[in-house]
Amino acid sequence: MPRSSDRAGAPALAWETLLPLGDDAAPLRDRLERSIRDAVHHGLLPAGSSLPPSRVLAETLGVSRWVVTETYGQLVAEGFLEAVVGSGTRVPLHPARIPDAAAAALAPVSLRGDYRRPRFDLGPGIPDLRHVPRARWADAMRRAFDALPDGELMVIDPLGHPLARSAVADYLSRSRRAVAAPDDVVITHGATDGMTAVVAGLRAAGHRSLLVEDPSWGRLREVAASAGLTPVPVPVDESGVDVDRLVQAADRTGARAALITPAHQFPLGAALSPARREAIVRWARAVDGVLIEDDYDAEFRYDRRPIAALQGLAPEHVVLVGSLSKSMAQAFGLGWAVMPAELRRRIRLADRPRPSVLDQVALARFITSGDLERHLRAARGRFRRRRAALLAAFDRELPGLAVTGIAAGMHAMLELPTGVAARDVRHAASALEVAVSDLARYRATATTDADALVVGYGNLSDALVDEAVARLAAAIREAEVTGARRRDRAVEA
Ligand SMILES: Cc1ncc(COP(=O)(O)O)c(C=O)c1O
Repeated sequence: MPRSSDRAGAPALAWETLLPLGDDAAPLRDRLERSIRDAVHHGLLPAGSSLPPSRVLAETLGVSRWVVTETYGQLVAEGFLEAVVGSGTRVPLHPARIPDAAAAALAPVSLRGDYRRPRFDLGPGIPDLRHVPRARWADAMRRAFDALPDGELMVIDPLGHPLARSAVADYLSRSRRAVAAPDDVVITHGATDGMTAVVAGLRAAGHRSLLVEDPSWGRLREVAASAGLTPVPVPVDESGVDVDRLVQAADRTGARAALITPAHQFPLGAALSPARREAIVRWARAVDGVLIEDDYDAEFRYDRRPIAALQGLAPEHVVLVGSLSKSMAQAFGLGWAVMPAELRRRIRLADRPRPSVLDQVALARFITSGDLERHLRAARGRFRRRRAALLAAFDRELPGLAVTGIAAGMHAMLELPTGVAARDVRHAASALEVAVSDLARYRATATTDADALVVGYGNLSDALVDEAVARLAAAIREAEVTGARRRDRAVEA
């Protein structure tokens, strides 16, 4: 298949393509013809792209216009190029004369495998990619760009554009009860980027370890470790991170900083209990410590209003980290971190790669216009209904298996029958086009606890919920058989 450089099918302008003529003795016309053929074969002039008008190319190359019109004419006569009324000369969409080998080089640039989502997407933490508000974002981007004074195309504040910092501060104060003035906000590329800055600041302030929930998202543990902070795992139960054990681990290791997910523990799905919220803040104050609050999907609560951010209880000890990755999509590459001034001063923010000013002003516009909150309201309704449909399907297809986690976010935990290995379920599910994750993947330490699945529903089409669960149930039955066979073989051996 030819590669079209524009997915919508509009001809792409390839006027800037360099067409070297070489310096051999061949006539100019032949050299230009060879150069165009080479450029097409190597995909520099993709299928469907428009070549420069003959006058423009003649000027660029410093040759007579006749050389160009003759060359174009020859290639059009062969069917290698086509002349389209109104669009000039272009590479055909379906090249007839390109030899197979060259046509293969024009094959679509395929996306890396992990970007292609499976048909039955039960991967956790993936938002509804079909409902990303593309048009509203594009509108915010255009309006914000139109309104951006020329001078600000040069001003790049390492902490973020003032409009974005102010819009995010207002949004978080409103929706998360955060205590945040614009100056407290740093605009980031997302939670991982925010975390990278924060752990660098902690390291600079003398921290050597970081208390982390076990289980938790491994990526942020890795970020801490690569900054030189040793992760210290702390167990989690149905009331969130075990604060007594956290204090013990802190006393043992001297750790004075912790990374937590109080609104919705990832992946177990608990909310930190009110008593533990108070206890952890008390601890942070007592040791002059820092709590990093990963507020990754807190906007999505279905049985009550979202719990306020912990940051609002102790802004001088809590860093609130958030992003658009769950509420919109990771592709936006935008997030924020609300930090105490003391920590902000420690971070060499000027050295950080900064999000584009255009993206930042678009974010500001998207928030101040109310579009973010409109989108969140609609997404919340969709996720609430989908979660209910998923739990009903679990009930029908997998009666007796416990589903845990509060009614929030975009995932639920599904217990597995005794003797069924999550790994076997994942493999069997994958053969049925179902992607699902398991708890072991998020553990910081090995455990003998029962296996469980982390089942996401953010990116699962409503129409496929029942079928996805039926396939998952089939995969669990198959894994049961696999497990039984394995045990039989072990007994025989
Ligand atoms: C627990 C948790 N926090 C935060 C994030 C968001 O990270 P980022 O904003 O870097 O995409 C994720 C994404 O998968 C996550 O699982």
